[in-house]
Amino acid sequence: MFKAETYILRRKLLRKSVGSGLLIFLANEESPMNYTANPYHYRQDSSFLYFFGLASPGLAAIADADEGTDTLYGDDIGIEDIIWMGNLPTIKARALEVGVRRTAPRAVFDEKVRQALAAGRPVHYLPPYRPDNMTVLGDLLGIPVKELKARASAAFIKASVDQRIIKSKEEIREMESAVAVSQEMYLSAMKLAKPGRYEYQVSGLMEGIALAYDMHLAFPPIVTINGQTLHMHAHDNMLVKGRLLVLDCGAEAASGYASDITRTVPVGGRFNARQKAVYEIVLAGQESAVKAIKPGVSFKDIHLQTARVMAGGLKALGLMKGDVAEAVAAGAHALFFPHGLGHNIGLDVHDMEDYGENHVGYGEKVERSKQFGLAYLRMARELKPGHVLTVEPGLYFIPSLYALWRKEKKHRDFIVYDAVEKFLDFGGARIEDDVLVTETGRRVLGPPIPKKVADIEKACRA
Ligand code: GLY
Ligand code: MN
Ligand code: MN
Repeated sequence: MFKAETYILRRKLLRKSVGSGLLIFLANEESPMNYTANPYHYRQDSSFLYFFGLASPGLAAIADADEGTDTLYGDDIGIEDIIWMGNLPTIKARALEVGVRRTAPRAVFDEKVRQALAAGRPVHYLPPYRPDNMTVLGDLLGIPVKELKARASAAFIKASVDQRIIKSKEEIREMESAVAVSQEMYLSAMKLAKPGRYEYQVSGLMEGIALAYDMHLAFPPIVTINGQTLHMHAHDNMLVKGRLLVLDCGAEAASGYASDITRTVPVGGRFNARQKAVYEIVLAGQESAVKAIKPGVSFKDIHLQTARVMAGGLKALGLMKGDVAEAVAAGAHALFFPHGLGHNIGLDVHDMEDYGENHVGYGEKVERSKQFGLAYLRMARELKPGHVLTVEPGLYFIPSLYALWRKEKKHRDFIVYDAVEKFLDFGGARIEDDVLVTETGRRVLGPPIPKKVADIEKACRA
């Protein structure tokens, strides 16, 4: 948690930006795994965390833009809970930690919202994503659950995005602490990536390191020798020589700030010639993308530039042909690079994605492409100092996509299908770092994590 002043200022700016009405917040509740008393790891809602700082269930809050007040709603625990949970600070004391002077029991929140609705005052809410809070909100506002997302407050979303997308020094410090722990996770994983080990041993080791630093994982990790499947969350394969191990994993600091790093390592610690050739293309793409980051440049343009760098590499390798710029404009590179270059990161690994991807990554000025590949780009905005983004290009050989495109003769002026066929047992390679846009350029967050071929091979041998 930051000092109270941080939250006071955040809420003041939010109230001012939205202008009128009530801005309502629901904390996340415990989420049961298999019965109520056996919950998943608790994670507070990021908007609640950002504006009210408190990471526990049973809370709600209202920022009243007309009155200029903030109120925290929650119930002090009684003796029955004290027996099981110990003495906890009162709601009043917790509210003061985040600069809120007004508190009331949780039930009063519902009353206040109903009174406001009856008086015809605007009640602004953010799109809910957890089923239990959807039910609570739907009942309270008299809105069918399936309409809740569409009827969320555009003004509240925009004001929150405008604030949260620019990270302060204290937020960046938290994110760097998460990358620092990720560095240890990656160095340990590289040492373990030997033939005969299992993916779950590597993912377990990485998660254990995060836990040992009082952190958690920011998202379900990808630890796979089948990197051609982009979101492969199974970890049950044995590591075998000749495969690349894709490690996409990130620690989340106790404060909630995320890191999101990917490294690709050869099982056994040495890239073979084919792996090296493809990996070097991804690395060239990633490094050129990082270098291009500075205020005023559009991230969509950097995505396209990276695609051209990698398409140029694939052409040199004999897998693509023709004019590289034309190939990328047509979307031919997406056979190998079918996802976006990156996304905003902060309290969420895909920051604020609960508000809707386009609100965060596109805003009002940029329109999202419908072209296969480019359509998956989550962040296309012009860069500003304080943005923190992931830069995560990759190249993949996806047999089913290859078979489909080949059958359809898709982009055959740009793709050398006979040559690509020889790579269908390759898998995939991706490299990802978290990058801050500074006044003059960029800074890769955290301590360096090996990514050049020689450095990865050295780390694997350590
Ligand atoms: N780890 C998910 C992502 O890279 O976006
Ligand atoms: Mn990632
Ligand atoms: Mn990412």
